[in-house]
Amino acid sequence: MREPDAAFADPRQAVLYDVFDDDRSDLDAYVSIAAELGARHVVDIGCGTGSLAVRLAGEGLSVVGVDPAKASLDVAHTKPYADRVTWINGDAAALAGLSVGADMAVMTGNVAQVFVSDEDWSDTLTAVHAALRPGGWFVFETRRPEVRAWEGWDIAPTTVQLPDGRIAVVTRTVTVVDLPLVTFEGSTTIGDEILASSSTLRFRDRPEIEHDLLSHGFTVSDVRGAPDRPGMEHVFVARALG
Ligand SMILES: C[S@@+](CC[C@H](N)C(=O)[O-])C[C@H]1O[C@@H](n2cnc3c(N)ncnc32)[C@H](O)[C@@H]1O
Repeated sequence: MREPDAAFADPRQAVLYDVFDDDRSDLDAYVSIAAELGARHVVDIGCGTGSLAVRLAGEGLSVVGVDPAKASLDVAHTKPYADRVTWINGDAAALAGLSVGADMAVMTGNVAQVFVSDEDWSDTLTAVHAALRPGGWFVFETRRPEVRAWEGWDIAPTTVQLPDGRIAVVTRTVTVVDLPLVTFEGSTTIGDEILASSSTLRFRDRPEIEHDLLSHGFTVSDVRGAPDRPGMEHVFVARALG
């Protein structure tokens, strides 16, 4: 499995994730869907800094958060209700053998797009299926390729004041568009320190994802939009066949 990007795995960058992405209203839909589906046991794959995991745990759900970026999990550990979450440092395959039997698996923040190769995506779908009880739900989002969101991703040098008072200069440049892959380079300069990260994401369209879900033992119950990003995302609600 590909290593997570420095943006998530470098401790100096992982602590900035929630600072730069502080509006997590995107997670409201997942909290609602968990309630709608009656999920009590949830696995959050690619949980990152754990914003959804701790929120669900705070509502009394049993939650496992898994992510290969230890630095992001270290941030998650500091949050309220973190002590109620089972944190696992790894990818979805690390759930094997835990007999999770989850009611619902989620991947928020477009985690589904980090699986660039067919093999990594297939291994992840297999591991998610194995972590769910028969009839359990897999809910995840991915950007719709036809929207071409990357065309708006460049950020010219922008000065940002961090909560601790330090000044950061942030840039982002999309460097390669070779569909279905899009690569971008980010940098955050704080004083003399330059924190760089390179990311490649894969854009899969709806038919491809539906096909992949079916071939990995899921049925597709619904494909919704993300309420906070109308028209831009697909939110798949799939069900594990027994
Ligand atoms: C954009 S962040 C989203 C984090 C979190 N889900 C959220 O909504 O804030 C993408 C996450 O995917 C994780 N990731 C990268 N490779 C992964 C893999 N093979 N399996 C699971 N997660 C992975 C990264 O470490 C990172 O935390």
